[in-house]
Amino acid sequence: MHKISVAGTGYVGLVAGVCFAEVGHHVTCVDIDEQKINMLKQGISPIYETGLEELMQKNYVAGRLDFTTDYIHAYKDADAVFIGVGTPEQPDGSANLSYIATAARQIAETIEKDCLVVVKSTVPVGTNDKVEQFIKDFLVNNVKVEVASNPEFLAQGTAVRDTLEAARIIIGTDSKWAEEMLMKIYEPFNLPIVSVSRRSAEMIKYAANDFLALKISYMNDIANLCELVGADIQDVARGMSFDERIGSKFLNAGIGYGGSCFPKDTKALDYLARQNGYEIRTVKAAITVNNDQKTVLYRKASNRLITFDGLKVAVLGLTFKPGTDDLREAPSLENVPLLLDRGAMIYAYDPVGSDNFRQKYPESEYKITYVKSPEEALSGANVCFIFTEWDEIKAVKPENYKNQMRTPLVYDGRNIYGIEDMKDAGVEYYSIGRQAVIENKAVRLSNTHNTNHRLYSA
Ligand code: UDX
Repeated sequence: MHKISVAGTGYVGLVAGVCFAEVGHHVTCVDIDEQKINMLKQGISPIYETGLEELMQKNYVAGRLDFTTDYIHAYKDADAVFIGVGTPEQPDGSANLSYIATAARQIAETIEKDCLVVVKSTVPVGTNDKVEQFIKDFLVNNVKVEVASNPEFLAQGTAVRDTLEAARIIIGTDSKWAEEMLMKIYEPFNLPIVSVSRRSAEMIKYAANDFLALKISYMNDIANLCELVGADIQDVARGMSFDERIGSKFLNAGIGYGGSCFPKDTKALDYLARQNGYEIRTVKAAITVNNDQKTVLYRKASNRLITFDGLKVAVLGLTFKPGTDDLREAPSLENVPLLLDRGAMIYAYDPVGSDNFRQKYPESEYKITYVKSPEEALSGANVCFIFTEWDEIKAVKPENYKNQMRTPLVYDGRNIYGIEDMKDAGVEYYSIGRQAVIENKAVRLSNTHNTNHRLYSA
């Protein structure tokens, strides 16, 4: 077993550290935030992630996992240091690598024995070369140091499972020594390992994430066309899914993808391509479709209603997907400001995301009320938007919209309900890529702007 240190106790670093300890390695997680380290030592996870806290506590008690702000102590005799710090997006789409640089410099100045530095954070192709050079430039002791790339593919809400039962582990190394060391570290996981060059590993991360983003945007594009020609996107997706070459996952059309990865990684690949004098047309198309998709329901509602001024608008779901309190790039963040600008009074419900949303849109400054149940949001509402498919929201019955709203007008960005069920309940219902239900009839929507696929009217 190896002595491993992990730089950064954010999503990537913490989950990796805990899972390395779980398979038997001796792990020290390092962060500059003392408060966070104290919390972790008490067994409290700063992120909400199924199963993480239990594993954290178990391995801490077993003595295989520790947390510290003392990076000198943590790095000096580590066999490997994994870097899992953030690489936030900058306004031009490029990644901010300053946290990586800080960690790299600390490693260079402290290691006292041969050490493999492994970059887990998502970084532009070529970054690992630069990190290795940077560490060598600042190296204090006469030891061997190499950098390897080891991107992760965990999704929020299933991060522990995604790590311990990963479909594959990607390791990118440019030497036998680094390859063998990483292979050994991952041996106890007993998972398929794909060993490639550093640059290929860096590219795999973007290529995989952007392919999924593309898949979703493709389905959203097809969904918009389905509406116009009277087809149903869910039936179309089901029919496609039986072809193993297509697969059954990530075929759900909706209000657009959000989160910390797809929006950032598509923009980063576009940036990388431009930097290299290339135009990556497919990924650019995914970005464009997604940007438009986020407001497709708002535009439908704008065509249906003369005004939002003074209307009570129920918003069900604020987070970018269920199972997380994360709002990054969530469709709600595009739509709520538009509705507020048009004078709507928002009643928002989310099982866990309201506190984060409130920080951006406090009740004291905006006409927004955060409520504790879908029913409170719907009571007396003129229109309802559904942005996240939480179980609590899926549990709302079609007749609740009819009975509780002042006018049962529903815009569903996650295709939660069956068309027939909403028709039977007497709800006016618009969703994504399917017929609308208007006056108890399922109808095809027509595009009022042939040259501009963004606008629809009922
Ligand atoms: C994603 C990748 O799945 C993961 O491998 C990578 O490491 C990080 O990015 P995450 O952002 O946590 O993970 O969530 P994911 O479940 O992939 O969903 C991303 C977005 O796509 C969500 O907004 C979701 O609503 C949307 N989505 C997903 C769809 O609109 N349709 C689908 O069929 C699937």
